Amino acid sequence: MFETIAQNIPDQRIFIKDVSVTIRRLDLVHPQISGNKFFKLKYNFLDAQRQGYQHILSFGGAYSNHIAATAFAAQHFGFKSVGIIRGEELAHRPLSSTLTTAQQCGMQLHFVSREHYRRKQQPDYLAELTVQFSRHYLIPEGGTNPLAIQGCREILKEGDAQFDVICCAVGTGGTITGLIEASEVHQQVLGFSALKGSFLKDEVAQLTRKTNWNIFDDYCCGGYAKINAALMQFIRDFEAEFAIPLEQVYTAKMLMGILDLIEKNYFPAGSKLLVIHSGGLQGRNMPFGFTTT
Ligand SMILES: Cc1ncc(COP(=O)(O)O)c(C=O)c1O
Repeated sequence: MFETIAQNIPDQRIFIKDVSVTIRRLDLVHPQISGNKFFKLKYNFLDAQRQGYQHILSFGGAYSNHIAATAFAAQHFGFKSVGIIRGEELAHRPLSSTLTTAQQCGMQLHFVSREHYRRKQQPDYLAELTVQFSRHYLIPEGGTNPLAIQGCREILKEGDAQFDVICCAVGTGGTITGLIEASEVHQQVLGFSALKGSFLKDEVAQLTRKTNWNIFDDYCCGGYAKINAALMQFIRDFEAEFAIPLEQVYTAKMLMGILDLIEKNYFPAGSKLLVIHSGGLQGRNMPFGFTTT
């Protein structure tokens, strides 16, 4: 079991609503396999080792923290790794800081068109990839699968029953599903989607039978990896006030959402919130071609 720092946020806007916010700093769990990635990858790598695989293959976009963490974990545990990356045009551009990290960890980056990428779950496409990249242990996009969900259950600990609400950022839904599965009946699990649209609710509903959760999809600043001046100012202010680093794709949007909900009296007085800082800080550098709204 890993010791994780839980940090209280002493903010006037929170105090006056009689709400408390504690941030679990999973970003500090490991310098490269940070945040939720540590929990999502743990059982997958153990399974790959147990089954005697030598190659790991996974999918992601230019800003996929999952790809960077998988590349590092593969190198660390002695696997070769391949990343199937969405967007063939990226092959001719400078790499994002996230993909640079992955490449430095020895991951072979293979850029494919969006059309090809959409086939990421189709057996015939996966068979083609096996021919191209030899027998491999497949970890799906974002790392979300039953073993990842099993790992993410371990984010919550025994004493966490004191919290009324658990908050996390949502990309593919594995992290929130683990949290939901580990939550108690009196707790609400709230997700903050990093993607445009409301489809994540349906996807998570396929992964759990429990109903004590919800996903907000109006804090993504226009879409995945999109930023605006208010978001970047929020990150600067938050870091200056609490000395907690955030990144712009997931954690900053989640915290903006939480503070907005507190402001709007969404949480009853006395509510205790546990907020999961899911890491991804290697993606903080503003990469080339970053999209703004
Ligand atoms: C920093 C960060 N937070 C949250 C998430 C979302 O996790 P999930 O894809 O399990 O919903 C990701 C993606 O893995 C991430 O990199």
